[in-house]
Amino acid sequence: MGNKDMFNRINIIQADIAALNVDAIVNAANRALSGGGGVDGVIHRAAGPELLQACRQLGRCETGQAKITPGFRLPARYVIHAVGPVWQGGDKGEPDLLASCYRESLRLARQHDVKTIAFPAISTGAYGYPLKPAAQIAIQEVIVYLEQDQSLEIVFLVCFDRKSYETYQQVMNEYEDAR
Ligand code: APR
Repeated sequence: MGNKDMFNRINIIQADIAALNVDAIVNAANRALSGGGGVDGVIHRAAGPELLQACRQLGRCETGQAKITPGFRLPARYVIHAVGPVWQGGDKGEPDLLASCYRESLRLARQHDVKTIAFPAISTGAYGYPLKPAAQIAIQEVIVYLEQDQSLEIVFLVCFDRKSYETYQQVMNEYEDAR
């Protein structure tokens, strides 16, 4: 699998992640898995109340970790709940914890034979992570993963606003130029 094919398996899009008909969407959750605002709120509203009940069965989820539930009323078969770090200036392990969210979500996806997955820009909203460094981590982790897993067909990096979309595209171009 050449680099070109690998880059073809990453799609940066501007969309509402809850509307995507993919095998799994990743939620930017909190440690209590209790639902919230942002993308967490949108996903729970679209999935229906069974999602919160399923989350209650899972208990808590540590920062940098991820847990999986069915998607219920969502088009997506699964929701992978990843808990991103709150930005505290960058020297409290936030980069590694954010990278771990992507790695752990991809590990769960593989365990559940997921072929198409969509990530939001984890931690870049309420958790205050600067957008470009977060996009660099997201793209780096996804590329490293795709290099060693040919089974995952498409990874959507879903941006909700134009600024995020342009930042992700810029980071992706820088990455491709560097290869
Ligand atoms: N589809 C895709 N992305 C979305 C959507 C959507 N429908 N709605 C918001 N986003 C984007 C935001 O614009 C932001 O870029 O998701 C990104 C992550 O922002 P948040 O949802 O605020 O998540 P995060 O920064 O990780 O904070 C998580 O917020 O909602 C609470 O319970 C959640 O406590 C947790 C915290």
